[in-house]
Amino acid sequence: MTHEDHATKLLSGPEGRAEAAALLRGGALVALPTETVYGLGADATNARAVAAIFAAKRRPRFNPLIVHVASFAQVQELAEVPDWAATLAEAFWPGALTLVLPSRGVLPDLVTAGLPSVAVRMPSHPLAVALLRDVGRPVAAPSANPSGRVSATTAAHVMDGLGGRIAAVLDGGPTAVGLESTIVGGAGPALLRPGGIAVEDIERVLSRPLAAARDGSAPTAPGQLRSHYAPAAAVRLNALEARAGELLLGFGPVAGDLSLSPRGDLVEAAAQLFSALRALDGRGQPIAVAPIPEEGLGRAINDRLRRAAAPRDS
Ligand code: TXA
Ligand code: MG
Repeated sequence: MTHEDHATKLLSGPEGRAEAAALLRGGALVALPTETVYGLGADATNARAVAAIFAAKRRPRFNPLIVHVASFAQVQELAEVPDWAATLAEAFWPGALTLVLPSRGVLPDLVTAGLPSVAVRMPSHPLAVALLRDVGRPVAAPSANPSGRVSATTAAHVMDGLGGRIAAVLDGGPTAVGLESTIVGGAGPALLRPGGIAVEDIERVLSRPLAAARDGSAPTAPGQLRSHYAPAAAVRLNALEARAGELLLGFGPVAGDLSLSPRGDLVEAAAQLFSALRALDGRGQPIAVAPIPEEGLGRAINDRLRRAAAPRDS
């Protein structure tokens, strides 16, 4: 085992928030709630604090991080904002959308992994907004899970994965959206990762289709490893019934051992996805998953499920 050099504090309420802000300003790592998933936050202007994120997550590579802000003025300090980005920010911020924008180069290289672009997001979770205001600096935060594992949608999930490796977790309850943000950027702009805002809604606001991420016009999202969000158990997709020994994760008409949404609601299914995978994974049997329609948040759910089912590197 690794040596654990922190007793991770579980913080909540206004006093907890003030302590979390002080810890972040002092360069410590604090997991914070957002409306999508919990983030592992560090002061984005402090290169040592940002480096500690990669160590705590045991991230093998320096993937670029999403920078979280509380105001549009902060975005303009960090990045150039093309017209399409201003339009999307106006429509979807605060919320589950990350914009990859031309960087002004004011943050340490580790935040952007040396790329000429920077990913920014203004979250809507009230505790995240208040914390970001208290900190008064941009906060870099990947999802608060050990590298390659399922993202955390509760403070308890964060403690399970990162307890002992970070200073504190600020508890804001279970996250409402349950899937990471949708990432849009580059020329086009392109869809870099499906997520908590449906692609159809983004395209409606832009009045044009998003470019595909891999057609060469877009920067790649280096964190988009094929095997990711991986439970320990094997995962089989598009299953109408369980095979011998499998647990079935249901949706709509497929009831299963546990259902993402008995009434077939994709928003509810997104909110349940990661905790359902964790719950079934804890039982030590392979997991079969019912078909999920490839529309709205179903596209992001299927993206995460395909990664959960992909062959593992290790
Ligand atoms: O909802 C979310 O997005 C959560 C919460 C905490 O905000 N964050 C999150 O972060 O999912 P993370 O690190 O797990 O995923 C960030 C993704 C990675 O795939 C990374 O490669 C991509 O964003 N990314 C970051 N900066 C980028 C850039 N400059 N160009 C392209 N992709 C970028
Ligand atoms: Mg992640």
